Amino acid sequence: MSTGRFVDVIHKKRQGLELEAGEIRAMVADYVAGKIPDYQMSAMLMAICFRGMSDAELTAMTLAMRDSGDIADLSRIPGIKVDKHSTGGVGDKTTLIVGPVVAACGIPVAKMSGRGLGFTGGTLDKLESIPGFRIGLGEDEFFRAVRENGISVIGQTGNLAPADKKLYALRDVTGTVESIPLIASSIMSKKLAAGSDKILLDVTTGSGAFIKELEKSRQLAGQMVAIGKAAGKETVAMITSMDEPLGSAIGNNLEVIEAIHALQGQGPEDLREVCTALAGMMISMGDVKREISYEEGRERAQEVLENGAAFEKFKCMVAGQGGDVSFIENPEKFAAAPVRGELTAGADGYISWMDTEGFGIAAGLLGAGRETKESRIDFCAGIIMEKKLGDPVKRGDVVATFHTSAGDRLERALSYAGNCYAVSEKKPEPLKLVVDIIR
Ligand code: URA
Repeated sequence: MSTGRFVDVIHKKRQGLELEAGEIRAMVADYVAGKIPDYQMSAMLMAICFRGMSDAELTAMTLAMRDSGDIADLSRIPGIKVDKHSTGGVGDKTTLIVGPVVAACGIPVAKMSGRGLGFTGGTLDKLESIPGFRIGLGEDEFFRAVRENGISVIGQTGNLAPADKKLYALRDVTGTVESIPLIASSIMSKKLAAGSDKILLDVTTGSGAFIKELEKSRQLAGQMVAIGKAAGKETVAMITSMDEPLGSAIGNNLEVIEAIHALQGQGPEDLREVCTALAGMMISMGDVKREISYEEGRERAQEVLENGAAFEKFKCMVAGQGGDVSFIENPEKFAAAPVRGELTAGADGYISWMDTEGFGIAAGLLGAGRETKESRIDFCAGIIMEKKLGDPVKRGDVVATFHTSAGDRLERALSYAGNCYAVSEKKPEPLKLVVDIIR
């Protein structure tokens, strides 16, 4: 399809007029085909940043991006497949816990996950910190793993939403990432192409999220739910707090160890609360007969965490993908960082604020993330938060322990994180972890 004079379409958007679905479809197809140059598409993206998009434009854009590549077919796996997607956070190991919990409740989990992006960690990097774990299963192997174990988590296969790949790379270098409709269409085009029956979105908000203001997080959640509905897929968004790292661990094998403890019914309260909420919603969405409410789903999630069924599922998943289960049974076998340092409190009081993104960046400086696409991750690098928001501290108390394999990284990370938290005399109000649910 030809776009005619694309400059006229850019002009129309710049004036704030609504684009027609046909114009949007042609724009996406022609850009992927290389018929629209990057400089014209950059101008269009900037116009969208300033003018926004109507619901009809947003749906047309997302569906055109979805249709730019393959659409996964999960119909060979019996049951309702509910996908979960997080918009990113720090210490966010929920997939490692929620996946096995949901699978232990009889709902198939066939999930494609991503790598770390910027200051946020990625599920694939965490899984690869388990010796032997393979994220690159072929299609048949993936389906077999889900059929036999009820769960498999792999890297993206096939050519899903190539339009998003090309547009995201352009947005990254043209200052157009932070646009709600562009984020919504980017995420939903990939989720719709991933082939699940239903979608649960974990839209993070706060200092460790991509979108930090609650009102904007609500807008993003609302737009994504509307796109899902327009595409005929039940979509629910939970807005969850990222005003402090989730749980205590940030960094790949540190987070796997924390997830193992959570799967054994232990571990930090906030992590358990968010995971049982997400799992409860997935269980209720995946229940074909519609007999399980969200509340009951949460209770079931709690049960399988306490009775060991979720932990057994995690072991099956790891074994099914070639991972060494002895590490899951004996987490002390994971490599421990040879170099450690402490971030200590400078005053008496309560931990009253955290720059969660800052702790994510500090974990990256320790080696837990990538500086370039080619960087190798130091799997044992990261941070253990010894204190959480609202905890009392005395001057000199350890707020966080820093772990790395490279001594030269420690000082930089410690000095970076020195300003990433505050101590005040007044105890802050407890955080609301699940801030809102948008259906
Ligand atoms: N994650 C995505 O996949 N796309 C965005 O635009 C932002 C975060």
